[in-house]
Amino acid sequence: MFKLIETRMIVPNMHQLLFEAPEISNQIEPGQFVIIRVEEDGERIPLSVSDWDREAGTITIVFMNVGETTNRLSLLEDGMEVPTLVGPLGNPTEIERFGTVLLIGGCYGIGSIYPIARALKKKKNRVITLLESRSSYLLFWEDKLREFSDELYFITRDGTKGLKGHINRAAEIVNGLERSVDRVIVNGCTYLLRRSSEITAEMGIKTIVSLNPIMIDGTGMCGVCRVSIGSKTKFACVDGPDFDGHMVDWDELFQRRKSYMSEETIPMNTSKCEEHHAAKIRGKKS
Ligand SMILES: Cc1cc2nc3c(=O)[nH]c(=O)nc-3n(C[C@H](O)[C@H](O)[C@H](O)COP(=O)(O)OP(=O)(O)OC[C@H]3O[C@@H](n4cnc5c(N)ncnc54)[C@H](O)[C@@H]3O)c2cc1C
Ligand code: FES
Repeated sequence: MFKLIETRMIVPNMHQLLFEAPEISNQIEPGQFVIIRVEEDGERIPLSVSDWDREAGTITIVFMNVGETTNRLSLLEDGMEVPTLVGPLGNPTEIERFGTVLLIGGCYGIGSIYPIARALKKKKNRVITLLESRSSYLLFWEDKLREFSDELYFITRDGTKGLKGHINRAAEIVNGLERSVDRVIVNGCTYLLRRSSEITAEMGIKTIVSLNPIMIDGTGMCGVCRVSIGSKTKFACVDGPDFDGHMVDWDELFQRRKSYMSEETIPMNTSKCEEHHAAKIRGKKS
């Protein structure tokens, strides 16, 4: 069992979990993820590790409540335990001295881009960070990211912080920079990954995206996370999750992510209420 030291909602619908997991915190690198199961008979879901403390033996996960399992996860309380926390999984993000790197983070990707910023800064890159959200009240970890960013930009749909609009306006930010960008790294929802890649393809800037297809085992055994990169079939869990954004077959990825949509809504529709889940989880623990 893995102990949840602390859980809190950092902005609406976005939760931060601090787990005691020394074996993972000892080995984890930026860009890697864990597979978590909230209950013994629950489904396994992949979540990026957004921060860690090797000395304290802890890892931090930031997740958005989007469905059945993330909802159950959001109902856990300080001190509770989960039966499965497997990792680190996937390949670390490539960290070298690239020059100027633009990091783009949206939704939970604002958290998972943080260790990448930290590692790139350590390698003496110029780190430009761009955070995208619907509104300023959905942004988080601004201070943490500022520490490792030479410049920090925002795009909000309602214009409450930074540029008004959506990621399409990233080109204006890139064009306004003093130095040219050598590499772009994007973490977040599939739309953000795709649109960022389309923009940077037009600008000729190499772009790495962390793909988030549906995963089950996370170890290359089930084939569920199959993606097409160029003309090659890859498994995001063992070959990725980072890939060249200009090579991804985005239409296929969007299609495959919707494969189980009707099944995924069943537990949400049949659940009586959130308290029901909470009571169930608490009951199992005691
Ligand atoms: C390598 C990897 C790392 C990931 N890291 C994180 C992370 O750090 N934090 C995090 O919050 N999520 C992360 N995800 C996505 C996360 O695994 C899913 O959100 C989760 O599996 C949803 O499970 P669920 O049962 O709650 O929702 P489901 O019932 O499976 O899905 C509910 C609905 O939400 C939609 N949905 C599923 N995933 C997402 C998503 N990412 N964004 C928006 N809508 C979605 C589905 O299409 C469906 O319609 C990661 C995925 C991968 C592959
Ligand atoms: S999750 Fe099963 S092969 Fe990748």
